Amino acid sequence: MLSPETIQAVQQAALIEEVVGDFVTLKKRGQNLWACCPFHHERTPSFAVSPGKGFYKCFGCDAAGDAIAFVKAIEGISFVEAVKYLAQKYGIPIQETEDEHQDIAAQHEKDSLYILMKLAQTYYADTLWQHAEGQRIGYTYLQERGITDEFINQFGLGYSLDTWQGFHTYAQQQGYSDELLEKAGLIVHNQEKLYDRFRGRVIFPIHNLSGKVIAFAARRVKASDDQPKYINSPDTPIYHKGDVLYGIYQAKQKIKELDSCLLVEGYTDVIALHMAGIQNVVASSGTALTDAQIQLISRFTKHVTVLFDGDTAGIQAALRGIDKILEKGLHVKVILLPDGEDPDSYAKKVGGLAFQNYLQQQVQDFITFKTKLLMKGVGEDLTRKATVIKDILQSVALIPDVVSRALLLQQTSKLLHIDESVLLAELNQLIFKQEKESRRPHKLVHNPVKELQLTAKRGELMPLNWATTIEAYEQESIRLLLNYGSMPLEDGTPLSTYLLRELADVPFQHLVYKEILNIYEQHSLQGQPVNIHVFIQHPDEKIQKTAIDLTASPYEISEKWEERYQINVSKEEDNLHRTAYKNILRLKLRLIHQLIEENNKLLKDNPDVEEEDKLLQVYAALKQSETAIAQQLGMVIVG
Ligand code: GTP
Ligand code: MN
Repeated sequence: MLSPETIQAVQQAALIEEVVGDFVTLKKRGQNLWACCPFHHERTPSFAVSPGKGFYKCFGCDAAGDAIAFVKAIEGISFVEAVKYLAQKYGIPIQETEDEHQDIAAQHEKDSLYILMKLAQTYYADTLWQHAEGQRIGYTYLQERGITDEFINQFGLGYSLDTWQGFHTYAQQQGYSDELLEKAGLIVHNQEKLYDRFRGRVIFPIHNLSGKVIAFAARRVKASDDQPKYINSPDTPIYHKGDVLYGIYQAKQKIKELDSCLLVEGYTDVIALHMAGIQNVVASSGTALTDAQIQLISRFTKHVTVLFDGDTAGIQAALRGIDKILEKGLHVKVILLPDGEDPDSYAKKVGGLAFQNYLQQQVQDFITFKTKLLMKGVGEDLTRKATVIKDILQSVALIPDVVSRALLLQQTSKLLHIDESVLLAELNQLIFKQEKESRRPHKLVHNPVKELQLTAKRGELMPLNWATTIEAYEQESIRLLLNYGSMPLEDGTPLSTYLLRELADVPFQHLVYKEILNIYEQHSLQGQPVNIHVFIQHPDEKIQKTAIDLTASPYEISEKWEERYQINVSKEEDNLHRTAYKNILRLKLRLIHQLIEENNKLLKDNPDVEEEDKLLQVYAALKQSETAIAQQLGMVIVG
């Protein structure tokens, strides 16, 4: 078990914007930071991070939590592993109380897989550096390819012995079960036999965003070999080939800094570019780019530059891949390498500086590239020219942003020497067709309860059917308590004192609100203002989420804006006493209605005269309270 001190130290040290910032690029707007949500697909940001309150919340899906919850959710790991990850990030020593066994049992399957993959990576790296065969074959191979010690280390490269049981035996000695080893894809089960998947190969670990090893690619060392050039880990619970980009962990910081990402094909290309001083580079690993991979890039930047090998064979296929990137709303540039070169070979040939210069000089926007490429050899053949133009416009039509689309159309018109209005007519037809085929149905996120909550937060009238439920009033009380508890009312007492006193005799019916109220009361009994972090970092996920839901506001009223337009946006704070007072009265009124209903039922089923008399007295008392409250609320009760 982790010691409570460790958990507390992590909660205090971890800055939500830094923790989330390792996984998405956040942009400041108002008091919050915003991004497209990493937990669901969206084009406009509804994922907010509040540095002040220490939480993240997506207004499009249900994701919400503090820094620890974020790491848990994005990595799919347990609370304990998430705390350990953050402890490492912030240099906090981890204290554990005995009871290790319980911990291992409580670990998620994914936790054990991450730990096992780390073990394997260390084993392969040690083999490369320390074992005779590793040195003679693996290390020599990497040296021949010009990869220096520094970069072998930075990418955690290794070597797997050319035996059937090298890693298997080692992992067994460390206490790992064959079942887990197989699940991790490290050993293979074939006709009753178990053996190492990777044998006699150079090992490239594949990392996820937070730097955890999730898979391996193993390259053969002998050119004569009739085995495939690369053998990869299979998909496992922690590795989905189509979701991953090689090098993303090593690149993400630079991608954010430069707001641009280079895309290459191979593992060795990524390393070669790093050695040439270019760090914002990832590889698609040979296969066609997937939606998830594009999504991953777009968490950090909207600008992608694709490096093409000099051989034209693959270009047609690659052009289609690029259409996919355009469609996702990213801006694409292209660099074509000289004939017969790939990024690795060319960088090595000309050296880092010349290579960087080449990239700078040769970069062109995608439409220019495609236009020039396709127009090559078309000559004056009008039919072919028309086909090419349509093909190019098809790419332009995929771009979701209207302004970018218009700019590109202008450029295409110049390149092709064709009147812009002609191209525009054609483009509009294409767009119309695409929308009719409707490959991207616009799914509106529609959640009536959420919308009502938003309306309520804006201080507008609450719709009756929703607002008249007891739950809504309980929620509203808690919302006021959490947001404004420490604010003084006219007489100087804090709102929390008033609310706690008024709510003391109200039996809360919904567990989570009741719990929050209790916790609040416990804390305020200690005589200090209650910090909202108590709830946002609460171990009970339900409490945590509720607290975030009730304190997060998607509306950012900029004070400057108010000043400039002389608009007086009335603030909830100005009317706190009245709001709280009314809410409590409504809650009590609703409770009395409920009691009257119950009482009426008993009256109906209960013919006993004595009992009936009592019930009638209760009824009268309830009616009296009802009238009193209704009067205070300015309502008239009928009947
Ligand atoms: P080197 O040839 O060592 O420079 O490797 P490379 O990474 O440059 O490979 P290459 O350009 O031939 O291929 C690009 C990418 O395609 C590789 O990085 C791999 O991800 C993938 N790939 C190539 N060959 C194979 C293979 O035989 N099997 C698998 N699974 N993937 C491969
Ligand atoms: Mn290569």
